[in-house]
Amino acid sequence: MSDNSDNIFEDLDDLDKVDDHYVEHLAQLDESKDVISSQDIVNKKGVLLCKKGTHVNKDTAERLIQHKLSQPLENSIILSDSIDYAFLFKKLQGQLDTYQDCRTIHDKMSFEIMAKKTFLFTRLNPVIIQKLTVINEQMPEQLDKAVFCAWLSLLIAIEMGLDKDTRHQTYLAGLLHDIGFIHLSPEVLNKKGGLTAEEWRAIQSHVVIGKLLLEQHKDIPAGVSKAILEHHERCDGSGYPANKNDTNLGIIGQIVGVADSIYAIRTKQFERHGRNMFDLLPYLQMNAKTYFYDVYKALSSILKYSGLKMTLPTDIDISQRADSLYVRSQALSHAIDALQNSNIMDMSDQLSSNKGRSLYKVSTHVLSMSNESGLVGGDIHGWLKQLAKEPDPEAIAELNEIDLMLNELHWQLKNACRSCDDSLEKSEASAETQFKLREAYTTVGLCLGELEDK
Ligand SMILES: [Fe+2]
Repeated sequence: MSDNSDNIFEDLDDLDKVDDHYVEHLAQLDESKDVISSQDIVNKKGVLLCKKGTHVNKDTAERLIQHKLSQPLENSIILSDSIDYAFLFKKLQGQLDTYQDCRTIHDKMSFEIMAKKTFLFTRLNPVIIQKLTVINEQMPEQLDKAVFCAWLSLLIAIEMGLDKDTRHQTYLAGLLHDIGFIHLSPEVLNKKGGLTAEEWRAIQSHVVIGKLLLEQHKDIPAGVSKAILEHHERCDGSGYPANKNDTNLGIIGQIVGVADSIYAIRTKQFERHGRNMFDLLPYLQMNAKTYFYDVYKALSSILKYSGLKMTLPTDIDISQRADSLYVRSQALSHAIDALQNSNIMDMSDQLSSNKGRSLYKVSTHVLSMSNESGLVGGDIHGWLKQLAKEPDPEAIAELNEIDLMLNELHWQLKNACRSCDDSLEKSEASAETQFKLREAYTTVGLCLGELEDK
């Protein structure tokens, strides 16, 4: 089976089929840097569209976008002021200065020399440098994420004792895993608020686009393209684009997948609450089976060895905190009950098409995560309720852990909700099954909405 078969984008097997927006980024960039054609650009029929030495500005872009080009546009472009290896390493240093907990991990693991060597001496071809330059100018946060994921992925690969060649591929995959985003519509990427099913599908296509892009470069090992295709797949089959499971997933994609999730948690959720990387442990425990167990073990061991400590709030009202966690835990319990009562666990046969299987896997993933965490149910509710009445300062660490775990469960439920509409429409499930699941997911959405309104 080829890597691109049996996935929700099986028709997207050639870059010519991509609704490519790269030229729009280049035209915008031409307003501040020189973006010049390095050779005549012609369409597939040989018609000249843009002479060598022309600025790729908005007018040129409008012309180019109407045609299928004889070769990828990036092969015919020269940028002024491209980024270089020193720039990438400096960016890493900037991040380690911003996130002092990451600096602590970096120093404790004696990672400076290896990181410097890798960032400064891993060769990237000119087209890849061009793409990273455009990403840096047009979507700077994406380059921050790329550098963070390259750093963390390499650190995990070293902790796992992977060989030199695999470490090299892991670094590249971390750096390039979301390169497909620069070819997507900026309008969809920057959209505030909920995405339609079609827009969500467009976002998901970045894994396939990234893989197709990298496959064009003979100097990029095949393991890197495979990892890019797989970085949103999960070991229990709940990922995309092909719902692969641990028997046919590569290790690099899972390392990059966990690094990618951690970037989002550390720089957004944790930043708002003053948490550090050590606070990731409850998240990792809940996801011990989501990525390969060896990846979980390596990252947990890095965090435990770092000397960092869990961030415990010092001036909280225990009673109030227990009460608010009780309310959250109840709402998430209702959501889980609704999903459980839909009997989706027994619908494997009805949900056997690509789309249906995706919803089945995402739903069973969240249900088993909830069961194994013990987060919802009588015991924990009773304990929180009791604590709200009789606050115990000794319980602060446990409350903190529950808070972190509820965040993860909330996110997982939200993710499942997001894929429901699109998946059901194309699932070929019976009207009765569709009704049942829509009803369950509407309840889930209402429970989550209630929490988000608070
Ligand atoms: Fe991604």
